Amino acid sequence: ALYASADEASRAVAEEIAALIRQKQSEGASAVLGLATGSTPKKVYAELIRMHRQEGLSFRNVITFNLDEYYSLGPDALQSYHRFMREQLFDQIDIDPAHCHIPDGTLPIQEVYQFCLQYEQHIRELGGLDFQLLGIGRNGHIGFNEPGSHVNSHTRLMTLDQTTRADAATEFGGLANVPRKAITLGIRAIMQAKRVVLLAWGEHKAAIVQQAVEGPVTESVPASYLQGHTNVAFVLDVSCAASL
Ligand code: GLP
Repeated sequence: ALYASADEASRAVAEEIAALIRQKQSEGASAVLGLATGSTPKKVYAELIRMHRQEGLSFRNVITFNLDEYYSLGPDALQSYHRFMREQLFDQIDIDPAHCHIPDGTLPIQEVYQFCLQYEQHIRELGGLDFQLLGIGRNGHIGFNEPGSHVNSHTRLMTLDQTTRADAATEFGGLANVPRKAITLGIRAIMQAKRVVLLAWGEHKAAIVQQAVEGPVTESVPASYLQGHTNVAFVLDVSCAASL
């Protein structure tokens, strides 16, 4: 789907999420959402907050699982995704904090494997993700599934690419401060979501989006796996769609 601006696109995506939440509410069921961080989804979250305030959209039946977290950042670290989600969304809506799941970046290394298994198991027990929101890295990563990630990869500790670390350098005040690893939901769980929406804005993402959408399905561009998903949308602004 193509939109004139990121604002317009974000409104449409927030509308879709709100419709899902309301639908589940009317069934007395929970909406299980997979959420993403980064600059790209910020306007979607802002729009959901607006709908909560002005239209009474409630998140009491919403359960969330975030894609990833830097290892090993604590939940209060400035660049942690725990903090990002609290600031950009959770603290401003009526969601139950106990329903908000984000990989724990502070676990001792020997507990990470078990944690990852449980994270996926928890999602499965709730019937899977109803909706997965995604951004895309300039190297084609989704979540922190870097190039080379297998289509069946599980939730795991991933070593970050140089491109990914370089893109995060400003935020961390220098490359040396960027963590070398992150815990990420695997490709397999993303592909099992009932609906996947990947967002990308701006010229700097145009080339990788072109490869993901029109190029071969390859582990070198993990987002290209989404071509094999039966209910996926790439939501783009015009400048990002320039190479398609
Ligand atoms: C990080 C996140 C990804 C995100 C990507 C793009 O690597 N782990 O989930 O999609 O950055 O970030 P941005 O939206 O800021 O361009």
